[in-house]
This record gives sequence, C-alpha cells and structure tokens, in this order.
Amino acid sequence: MMPNLPQTTLDELQSTIAQMAVPGKGLLAADESTPTITKRFAALNIPCTEETRKKYRELLLTAPNIEKYIAGVILFEETLSQKTSLGISFPEMLKQKGIVPGIKVDKGLIRIPGTQDENATQGLDGLAERLAEYKKLGARFAKWRSVYTITKEHPSMLAIHTNADILARYAAICQEAGIVPIVEPEVLIDGDHTLETCFTVSERVLHRVFQALFLNKVALEYMILKPSMVIPGKNCSQSVNPEDIAKATVTVLTRTVPAAVPSINFLSGGQTPQQATQNLNAMQHILKHTPWNLSFSYARALQEPSMKTWQGNAENAVAAQELFAKRAKLNGLASLGRYLPQEETA
Ligand code: 13P
Repeated sequence: MMPNLPQTTLDELQSTIAQMAVPGKGLLAADESTPTITKRFAALNIPCTEETRKKYRELLLTAPNIEKYIAGVILFEETLSQKTSLGISFPEMLKQKGIVPGIKVDKGLIRIPGTQDENATQGLDGLAERLAEYKKLGARFAKWRSVYTITKEHPSMLAIHTNADILARYAAICQEAGIVPIVEPEVLIDGDHTLETCFTVSERVLHRVFQALFLNKVALEYMILKPSMVIPGKNCSQSVNPEDIAKATVTVLTRTVPAAVPSINFLSGGQTPQQATQNLNAMQHILKHTPWNLSFSYARALQEPSMKTWQGNAENAVAAQELFAKRAKLNGLASLGRYLPQEETA
C-alpha cells in the first residue's frame, strides 16, 4: 500500500528525515516543559524565569561545532518563538547551523479512568492547527511522549492500547502536515523490575505501537522511533553490563520495529551520561548490520554536566558549552560504535 499523502508532502518529509537520520549524529531534546526545567534548575539553585531558560538554551544551542554530532533539536513551544541575543529566532539560528528544529507537541499526562493511576498523553485536540503554526515558526518535526510504568500489575492492557492508538493518531496528523513525527513510548526506569521484565513489557508495548501505526496508515519511512533502552529498574539489584542491555534492546527492536523505519533515537531516561553513551555504543556491536540508524535523542544525558557547571552564571557559560559539546561528540561516536571510555577524561 502506498502512503495516502500528496507527493509534495512526501518530498517534504523525505528531505527532513534525510537530514535527521544521519550516521554519527543524533538529536538533542531541549524540550523540557516549564515545570520540568523548573525542577532541574531548582536542584542546582538556579532561578527559573523566561530569561534564565532562554539564556541556558541559547548556551546549549550555540555551542561551537555541535552540528557535527547533532542533527536536530527538539524545542519547547516557548523557545520556538524566542530570539537569541543576536536577535534571530532559535529555529532560524539552528537552520543556519544545519540543524533541524523540531517541537514537542504533547500536552502532558492525564489519568486513564478505570486504571490505578496509569496515564495517557493528551494534546490531540487542535493538533493540526497547532502544527500549522509551529511550521510557520520553522519546526520541521515533532515529538510526542507516552509513558508506561512497570509494577506487578502494570502496564495494563488498557494503558498499552490507549497510548499506542494516541501515538499513532498523533503521527498520522503530523505526516499529513508535512511534519516528521518522533514517536516516543517510554517504559520508565522507576521501580525494582529486572531486565527480563523490562524486555517483556517493551516488546509488548512496541508491538502494539507498530500495529496502531499500521492501522493509522503512518508511513514508517518518514518517522523516527524514540524508545527507552531495555534496562533493569533503578531500584533493582541485578547487575548487568552494557552488552546485556544492548543485546536485550536490539533483540526487542528486531522483533518489533520494521526495517522501513529509518532511525531509532533512544531517550536516556535517568541513566547517567556515561551509561547512556556506553549502552548506545555497545548496541552497534550486537549485529553486523541493523536495518535502522541507531542513535540518541537525549535530554539529561547530554545536558546534565553542562547544566551543573553553568549554575546560572554567565562566567561559566563557555565551560558549560564545552561539556555539552563533549557529550554530543562522545554520543556521536557511540552511535557509530567508536566510543572509547578513555575519551571521558581526555
Ligand atoms: P531524557 O533523555 O532525559 O530521558 O529525556 C528525553 C526526552 O525527550 C523525554 O521526553
């Protein structure tokens, strides 16, 4: 079945995906909602105002040479219409650097009635109209995150079905607007579940997401999957190494993600920056050839050292930029399987 979209839309989607799914490059998620970035700043005693958020994001996005390793940046709505200190809009500045600007379009979580505190992601109402506005401001791709919690009873089938259907409707709406959708089903690291449990849940979740994408006629060639890695819960005492995580993750992906998907860009999900890099690197050595580009779309694992160093102080900006550029480079190398741990201290 050929995609049910006009050729001009397909060409637009193709040119965006060609710039995003580039070997050796990944994505930066700089799309924390205001409550989330407020929390991250508060942990470091940085005041959270529109001005400090802008300063911080300008520091990241103008870091020298990041375009060698960063193909696209996911922005929060606020940043999309802000201007840098040189007076140009953030999307325009990124475009001039050869980086594709994108936008987080979901509106956060809402409890699913009939479940024990499981959530669905909201924001479908009016999405087509919002996308048209975001596109005028320069956005060429979008992101939507669904979350799945692991407990003895969860995720329930209801949460798995509901979120898959919503993710797929979002993706179909994006493609119709000529916007490449990033589909992000995140199995949370919270809890004491084992690697095996995360494997079973991730397989079930992804299988259902791709069934929904098919039903919603999403053209898999023009989307990016942003999954979590298959990893034990953060309170689990099981000891695993990057090869175990890589093997489990790649096995789930080969079972569930069609080869038509051009790129899989992981979230970091609470791993340390170094773990996220090591695990991504290990994945490149599991199979001789994976059908998809396997890369990163990290927020915390790219930003943490930089935010800690910045502290909200202009005098630390250059050092913070260097740390961000370093993590971008190390993850770029990891996406090719060429990361060496000794480079951490170089
Ligand atoms: P983390 O890499 O911090 O998990 O964030 C990725 C993201 O974009 C969450 O939606």
